[in-house]
Parts: sequence; C-alpha cells; structure tokens
Amino acid sequence: MISKRLVDAINDQINFELLSSYLYLSMSAFMEANDYPGAAHFMRKQAEEEVEHAMKFFKFLVEVGARVELKTIPGPEVEFPGYLDVFKMSLAHEKIVTSRIRDLYEIAKEEKDHAALSTLTWFIDEQTEEEENFTNIIARLEKFGGSPISIMMTDDKLGARE
Ligand SMILES: [Fe+2]
Ligand SMILES: [Fe+2]
Repeated sequence: MISKRLVDAINDQINFELLSSYLYLSMSAFMEANDYPGAAHFMRKQAEEEVEHAMKFFKFLVEVGARVELKTIPGPEVEFPGYLDVFKMSLAHEKIVTSRIRDLYEIAKEEKDHAALSTLTWFIDEQTEEEENFTNIIARLEKFGGSPISIMMTDDKLGARE
C-alpha cells in the first residue's frame, strides 16, 4: 500500500511536469513570435514530452490504486530576454526538476516503496538526458559567441527534432 506522503509528493510532481509543459509551450510561442521556427518546433516537442512525464506519474498512481489530484497550474512567463537565455532558463528549470525527482526518490526509499523506486529510476535517467540536451544546445550557441549565424545554424538543427 502506497503511503499518503508519497502520493501527495507524486501529485505535486504531476503538477510540476504540467507546469514545465506550460513553460516550454510559452517559450515555443515566444520563438514563433520572433521568427525562430526551429526552436519553436523544439519547444513544442519539449512541452509534449513534459505532458508524457505527467502521464507516466498519473498512470503510476492509478496502477497502485491511489487518487490523482490535479491542481492549479500558474501561468508561465510570456516574454523572454533572448534566444540563448531561453535555453539557459530551460537548463535551470531542468535542474530544479532533477532535484525534485531526487527528493521523490528519497521519500520512496524511506517508505520502502519498490514500485515507486523503479518508476523514479526511469525519471533519474531521463533527467540526465534532459540536462545534457540543454547543456549541449547552450554550448553550441556559446561556442560562436551567440552570433546570429550560430543562432541560425542551431535553429535549423533544432527544427529537426522528432
Ligand atoms: Fe519532465
Ligand atoms: Fe523536462
């Protein structure tokens, strides 16, 4: 039987994954408005992935017979300082997510919930990948000093995300 403490923490994380989706969708809208179709596409895909994360936790709670409780999602920023900043903010956001997943893992360990630990192990691996993706994009942009040509080349690459 899953503990109430863990159910509450996972419900909070469902909310945070949806908040993440909302943030990336807003970044996508910003990129559209500034004529960067590659980053707009990339961020739309990122937003979809965050909904998948929320649904993975949703399904987990349903499977263990716990109640999913959806909460309010605060509105994200609408304007962003610039192209590179969007990716720096994304990396900072993913670092917060990583520390939240680690906290969840610690709770599951304390509660000796092996099923939750198995699901959270997937999320720990996923967070390594998420941080690496944004780190690589930032490095690519900074390598050429954030010049317009580096933005153009990066944007083409981001547009190819499947
Ligand atoms: Fe996520
Ligand atoms: Fe993420």
